[in-house]
Amino acid sequence: MVNTIEWTDAGVVMIDQTKLPGEETYVTCRTYNEVADAIRTMVIRGAPAIGCAAAMGVALGVQKASDENIDAQVDDICDTLAATRPTAVNLFWAIERMRTLFGKLRREGAAAAAIRQRLIDEAQEVLRDDIASNKAMGRNGAALLPAGGTVMTHCNAGALATGGYGTALGVIRAAVESGNRVAVMANETRPFMQGARLTVWELQQDDIPVTLLTDNMAGYVMRCGEVNAVVVGADRIAANGDVANKIGTYSIAVLAKENAIPFYVAAPLSTLDMNLESGDRIPIEERSPDEVTEIRGRRIAPAKTQVRNPAFDITPSEYVSAIITERGVARAPYVKTLRALAAR
Ligand code: MRU
Repeated sequence: MVNTIEWTDAGVVMIDQTKLPGEETYVTCRTYNEVADAIRTMVIRGAPAIGCAAAMGVALGVQKASDENIDAQVDDICDTLAATRPTAVNLFWAIERMRTLFGKLRREGAAAAAIRQRLIDEAQEVLRDDIASNKAMGRNGAALLPAGGTVMTHCNAGALATGGYGTALGVIRAAVESGNRVAVMANETRPFMQGARLTVWELQQDDIPVTLLTDNMAGYVMRCGEVNAVVVGADRIAANGDVANKIGTYSIAVLAKENAIPFYVAAPLSTLDMNLESGDRIPIEERSPDEVTEIRGRRIAPAKTQVRNPAFDITPSEYVSAIITERGVARAPYVKTLRALAAR
């Protein structure tokens, strides 16, 4: 399985997801600003992976910070990392986890060197926890997938989008590991092509059969009876079970309901935002128009084209058959079941 991100003595090393599948190259971030840039430019992407990167970014920033004014420097580090991408709540969750630990160590009067080491340890624990959550999620969700069936997924919610193993692809991996030879249909996921570039590449590494579709083919193949279940990841889940995920997810969920196909969301509890009652208040990132008017740097639309480029959409919980987490599977009414899982 591919190593998405790693803490090393030289810095934070990430596989460069903007170059895949053509080139398998690695980027070393030596400062927290470089980590912030890597998140913003999507060298690393996917909600849990962004969280791991942010935790390591904080540890890196504190490692390089001077002892004077360290509290103010930590505020700057956290604010810079928090300003990279607005939708994936794992980013804010991870920064808060690091900031809380820093504050606790300061109150306890820990020495600067000890604080630096504890934050490095914590960031590595965020990564380890994420991989463990994904494996648990896989165990919890695998039985939901139909035997020998075909599972549609959107975007990339795999090892590349997490610390490792994946959320939606983790459930698929766990099903395959348990002997269920499911096949995957991957939507290409315009405009950034996470499905075509990353999901197909990742599944090929594991010899899991995968067929690539353009996004506008989903309805047709569902109506033809070629899809038995849909599994996607999430960037933020509100307390009522509304799900923010990659743009296009909502359309697929509606099509799945229309065609009586179960629609599952796999996400760790760090993706839950219990402070938001519904998905209406989830901030949706709007990215550069160039991602829509160009493909790999080549212009496809006329100059001066007006563009919308929302990177995510909200799927209302009524379309979600179940939410698979590391603590178990939640079903409607999500207001109750998600609260119960989060409190456990
Ligand atoms: O813009 P991206 O590539 O960061 O968006 C990623 C997604 O939408 C994923 O489905 C989501 O983060 C879950 S990843 C386990």
